[in-house]
Amino acid sequence: MFSRYKKPSDAQPVQTPAPTPKADTAAAPTASAANAVARKPVNKKFAETTGSDRDRKRKERLGEIKLELHRELLENLNLAALENAAEAELRTEISAIASEVLEAKNIVLNREDRSQLNKELYDEVTGLGPLEALLQDETVNDILVNGPQQIFVERDGKLEISDITFKDEKHLMRIIDKIVSAVGRRVDESNPYVDARLADGSRFNAMVPPIAVDGSLVSIRKFKKDKLGIDDLVNFGAFTEEMAAFLQAAVSTRLNIIVSGGTGSGKTTTLNALSSFIDDAERILTIEDTAELQLQQTHVGRMESRPPNVEGKGEVSPRDCLKNALRMRPDRIIVGETRGAEVIDMLQAMNTGHDGSMTTIHANSARDGVSRLENMIAMAGIEMPIKAVRSQISSAVNLIVQASRLQDGSRRMTSITEITGMEGDVISMQELFRFQRVGLTPDNKIIGHYTATGVRSHYSERFRLWGFDLPASIYDPTKM
Ligand SMILES: Nc1ncnc2c1ncn2[C@@H]1O[C@H](COP(=O)(O)OP(=O)(O)OP(=O)(O)O)[C@@H](O)[C@H]1O
Ligand SMILES: [Mg+2]
Repeated sequence: MFSRYKKPSDAQPVQTPAPTPKADTAAAPTASAANAVARKPVNKKFAETTGSDRDRKRKERLGEIKLELHRELLENLNLAALENAAEAELRTEISAIASEVLEAKNIVLNREDRSQLNKELYDEVTGLGPLEALLQDETVNDILVNGPQQIFVERDGKLEISDITFKDEKHLMRIIDKIVSAVGRRVDESNPYVDARLADGSRFNAMVPPIAVDGSLVSIRKFKKDKLGIDDLVNFGAFTEEMAAFLQAAVSTRLNIIVSGGTGSGKTTTLNALSSFIDDAERILTIEDTAELQLQQTHVGRMESRPPNVEGKGEVSPRDCLKNALRMRPDRIIVGETRGAEVIDMLQAMNTGHDGSMTTIHANSARDGVSRLENMIAMAGIEMPIKAVRSQISSAVNLIVQASRLQDGSRRMTSITEITGMEGDVISMQELFRFQRVGLTPDNKIIGHYTATGVRSHYSERFRLWGFDLPASIYDPTKM
């Protein structure tokens, strides 16, 4: 029968679970009054059922068989012994068990369904179950789980619902537990949210009930082995060659740079790409909550901050890392994201000999970014007159690069802005490059172009002295 992987106890009979009906939330269009101003229809595409009826039925049936088999496997297999089994051996074993159970139950599957079933069973036993296929899908950037029945994925900047589901909340919780216990964390009612890193480097966050009302919420930012480089980003239209040349000069001449943007707008990707301009001879220290940056230089020290444990102990904050980094003789410091008290040390480092440092912040524009920095300083409990705060910011930060995810899903560097000093109480800034939107195609793609604003960089002379003599023409306000 189930050979050496079978637990010594006897198998329990399994009840076939009733299929969970899929909620059909598609609302009927409301009739509008004849004289009402025409409104654009609200996008309800996620509510539509995907695939044909026959396809769906087939999937549902397969799903039921799979659940039944999963349960048999989990209840009967000796999981500890499985951990040490070789992949090929395990696949053969799982397929043999599946055949046996199918046969016993008189279920006939075609070859394709059978191999899909075997694959899913393998993922369930050894990996992260339903998530495994999405993790292996190179076209998926983000995986967002809203309770067991709804998994969204992001492809090419666009969210789409996937046809993959978990059986129920218990199944989802089991996978979450598997992930967080592998990194020595715990998640339950009293610790309802957790950050972790998957074995492949992907960033993982989960929030479980009762705080998550309709079932656990999971967000995964997939780790890309080959991070997008400057050339990729130029090819994708995220910025232009001219902007890249400017950014190269800015990084090489050690300007302090902040990448600002909303969630998922491409901040980390931009920061990573900018870092490629750093000279290989420099010693770089990076500080992140979850290590995502992949610097190409030889001399890199990576740090990952740590939240407090269940007893509230053991925290090593980004600020602690930063303070310590200053004693580690860095040439440059890169902080993955500045969002709290570490802002003080970051600005101080930028002001005191660690030029060329970089970080990201959550903000929607360069001006907004500066306000965010001011707020962070205030929240850190530093009592300083606003003018002094601003003067500290203006002398620390040279450049703010704005990353945005536009409504059509494209990610672009929508602005490059320099901080040039103070005028009275106000920080003075000048925008050098921007993405100019001009309209929308019928299929909702944004039409626009990059342009320089006609303002020459405040740092042109510095660039020239450092050997980055950019032609004045790159600042010409023409379409690029
Ligand atoms: N210009 C681009 N074109 C296509 N994909 C991109 C581009 N920039 C970033 N991406 C992809 O978008 C996703 C989000 O990027 P990234 O992690 O850099 O965003 P972020 O702003 O740092 O997000 P978060 O706020 O969650 O930290 C990644 O999968 C990345 O590979
Ligand atoms: Mg990021």
